[in-house]
Amino acid sequence: MQTEMLTIETPEGFDLAAERAAALLRKGAIVALPTETVYGLAGNIFNQKAIKKIFAVKGRSPANPLIVHIGSIEMARECALNWPTTAEILARRFWPGPLTLVLEKRPSVPDIVTAAGETVALRWPAHPFMQAVIAKCKVPLAAPSANLSAHVSPTTAEHVLKDLSGKIPLIIDAGPSPVGIESTVVDLTVRPFRVLRPGMITEKQVAEALGVETASHDKGESSVLKSPGLLEKHYSPRARLVILSWSDQEDLHRQAVEGGINRGRTHLIAHDRIPPQGDFARVAVIPPDPEAYARALYAELRRADEEGAETIVVESVPQSAEWEGIRDRLARGSAQ
Ligand code: TXA
Ligand code: MG
Repeated sequence: MQTEMLTIETPEGFDLAAERAAALLRKGAIVALPTETVYGLAGNIFNQKAIKKIFAVKGRSPANPLIVHIGSIEMARECALNWPTTAEILARRFWPGPLTLVLEKRPSVPDIVTAAGETVALRWPAHPFMQAVIAKCKVPLAAPSANLSAHVSPTTAEHVLKDLSGKIPLIIDAGPSPVGIESTVVDLTVRPFRVLRPGMITEKQVAEALGVETASHDKGESSVLKSPGLLEKHYSPRARLVILSWSDQEDLHRQAVEGGINRGRTHLIAHDRIPPQGDFARVAVIPPDPEAYARALYAELRRADEEGAETIVVESVPQSAEWEGIRDRLARGSAQ
């Protein structure tokens, strides 16, 4: 299959691309679309074949449910069995945006989308292109990140092309994703709520919006089963990812030697104590504010893989709330 790539730089280009994407989706094809978080691989939730293709193309386990993207609160309510006050508050506060709400599902949402679970994950994306396509199709779109399963999520159209070239008919290029890491996933079927996947909307922001002290934190078996995707080794570059903090260059070199790290095959990602390149294969610097960091992180991880890095050393990031989504991805990426 030829994979076509369309840009949306002009209003005409935008409309043409939205029409083309919607036409393909109506036919049951799956297409890669920009969202504000990461690029998504979208399909009509009511088309079994399309949803099967999403799982097949990504190599994703059918036991891992998909996020359903909607274009209004009304559309969300058509997928959820009930619409608690918590959902209303969070939707009004954070939608459209990088927040996914897990609610009990209506029978009309096909089981294949939710991995036969009783719940559905709903998100109203902020990206105007994704919104335009949903408006044209008039159906919710299931869209996991548009990468091969367990790879780093794509934040540019090039990233999507590298993973899915020849496997899907269309990729829409809208430039780098403005958020850069996946949405915060909040389970509203437990009280007060539980964060299943941290993101740039923090647990504290959600708690404040709901007027509660904190989230539920019981990390029992039930919470793992609720988000099967979190069981898998995720967000991983091919290279070994190691998180370190160092006082100075000498300290860094000592730790590298102790950790058996070959500096000539190592990409280092720093944001605060930036060492000279020395004999590292690359020293990448990401600005030390969490928004800019999130935007740049996945591209740096992918670049390291592409340039053949054996190890990626990432300077450990701050412990504060705004960094929790980034800390989560780094921790998962470095899990053995
Ligand atoms: O930002 C995002 O959320 C991106 C963009 C494309 O919207 N999408 C995304 O989808 O990251 P995906 O499929 O790569 O990750 C969805 C995560 C998985 O960990 C999955 O297990 C979890 O959400 N999930 C989906 N449905 C769920 C449900 N009903 N209950 C609990 N977790 C669910
Ligand atoms: Mg993903």
